[in-house]
Amino acid sequence: MAKKQRIWEKRLKGSPPEMAMNFVQSLSFDKRLYKYDIAGSIAHSQMLAEQKLISNAQFRQIKSGLLQIERQISDGKFKFDKADEDIHMAVEAALIKKIGVVGRKLHTGRSRNDQVAADLRLWMRDEIEIIQTKITLLQQAFIEMAQKYQDVVCPAYTHMQRAQPIILAAYLLSFVEQFERDFIRLGNCSGLLDVSPLGSGAIAGSTLPISRTSTAEKLGFHQVSRNSIDATSDRDFCAEFIFDCALIAAHLSRLAEDWIIFSSSEFNFVHIDDKYCTSSSMMPQKRNPDMLELIRAKTGTVYGSLVGMLTILKGLPSGYNRDLQEDKVHVFTAADTIEASVDMACAIAANTGFNADKIKAGLDEGFLDATALAEYLVLKNIAFRQAHGIVGRLVSSCEKQGKKLVQLNLAEFKKYCPAIERDVYKFLGAENVVKRYATSGAAGVKQAGEQIAFWKKQLSKR
Ligand code: ARG
Repeated sequence: MAKKQRIWEKRLKGSPPEMAMNFVQSLSFDKRLYKYDIAGSIAHSQMLAEQKLISNAQFRQIKSGLLQIERQISDGKFKFDKADEDIHMAVEAALIKKIGVVGRKLHTGRSRNDQVAADLRLWMRDEIEIIQTKITLLQQAFIEMAQKYQDVVCPAYTHMQRAQPIILAAYLLSFVEQFERDFIRLGNCSGLLDVSPLGSGAIAGSTLPISRTSTAEKLGFHQVSRNSIDATSDRDFCAEFIFDCALIAAHLSRLAEDWIIFSSSEFNFVHIDDKYCTSSSMMPQKRNPDMLELIRAKTGTVYGSLVGMLTILKGLPSGYNRDLQEDKVHVFTAADTIEASVDMACAIAANTGFNADKIKAGLDEGFLDATALAEYLVLKNIAFRQAHGIVGRLVSSCEKQGKKLVQLNLAEFKKYCPAIERDVYKFLGAENVVKRYATSGAAGVKQAGEQIAFWKKQLSKR
C-alpha cells in the first residue's frame, strides 16, 4: 500500500514504518489543541496579508478553509490521520487539500516550534480559568459549610493528638485559605505565560518582514518574547502549571485524609453522603469513602506528571528538541486529574454533614483547655514557663483521679497554685475557651465570623 506523502518531508526517502509513525506522532493527544492551533493560524495568515506576504484574497481563502476545518473537528466529522503526526500538520494538510495551492502559503515565516509553544500557552490560559472557576466553587461550598457550623466547637489536632478547642467553621475555613493560594498561584502562572513566541520560527526567527506584535495582539498576548532561542524551547510555564496542580492535589489529599479519618467509626465526626461512598463486595455493612481515597491517590498521578515534566527539561540541549512533545502528556494529565478531583471534592463537600452531637460529647476528653488555663495563670502574673509546669502537674493529677480540669475544686487548684481564684472556671471547658481567643486569625467564634464575612465579600468580586 502506498504510504501518504507528507507535505513537509520531501527530503527524506520513503515514509516511516507504521510502528515508527505511531511512536513519533502526538496527534492522538494534541488534537485537543485544535481550536488554538486554528486561531493561531488565522492570526498568522492575517498578519501575512497585512505585511503583503500574501494577498487579502488569499488570507480570506485561508481563513474560511480553517474555519471549515474547525467546524468539522468540533462536529466530530474530521478524519484524523496519524501520518500527519500532530495537530499542526493535520490542520495544514487538510487546508491544502481544501483550498489547494494557497494553503501552502500558510506556513510562511513560521515553524511548528513556535506554533506549538503558542498553542500550548493559549490552551493553558483558558484551562487556568476553568480550574480557577472550579476552585472558587469549592471555596463557596466550604464557606457555606463554615456558616452552618459557626457555633460547633470541636477539637483541633496536632500530631493527630488532641490539642486545643476550635470552632468547626475555622477548620473548614483553613481550606478556603489553601484554595485561595492555589487560585492566586494559577493566576501568576497565567501572567507569566502571557508572552507570544510566534515569529520565533524554528529557533532563529525569520528573514521575512513578520509582525510579531500583530499576531500577539490578535491572540490576546500582552507581550512578545525577546529571544527566539529561548521562546521555542521554554517550557517553564508547563512545569509551573503542573506544580500548581500538584499543590492543589496536596491540599485536596489533606482534606481527603481528614475526612476519611473523621468518617471512621472511631471518630464518627463526619457523615459523607451514601452517593459518595461505595460498599464492599463481601462485607455487607460497609460504607467506604472511596471517592475521597481516590482524590488522595490522584495526588500521586499529578506528582508523577510534575516529575515527568521536570525530567524532560533536565539536561535538554538549547533549542527545540522532540522531547518537548511529551510535555503535553504531563500537562494534560495534570489538568484533567485536577479538574476531576476538584469537581469531586466540591460534590462531596456539598453532601457532607458533621455530627455535632458526637463531637460535643467528646469535648471534655484530652484536656483541650489546658493551654487556656496556662494563659489564665499568665494573667495572674505567673511566668508562662512556670504556668506550663503547674498545668502539666494539674493534668497528671486529673489523669490519676479520672477527672477533667473543670471538675477540680478551688482548694485542689490552690494546692498547685495559690494564685488561682474562683474566676478560673470561666476559662475552663472547650466552649469557654473558643469564646476567649483574642488574637486575630485565631480559631475562635469571633474570628470565624470575621473570616466568613471577608470571604463572602472577596468571592463576590469574582
Ligand atoms: N508535535 C510537536 C510537539 O508537540 C510539534 C513540534 C515539532 N517540531 C519539530 N521540529 N519536529 O512538540
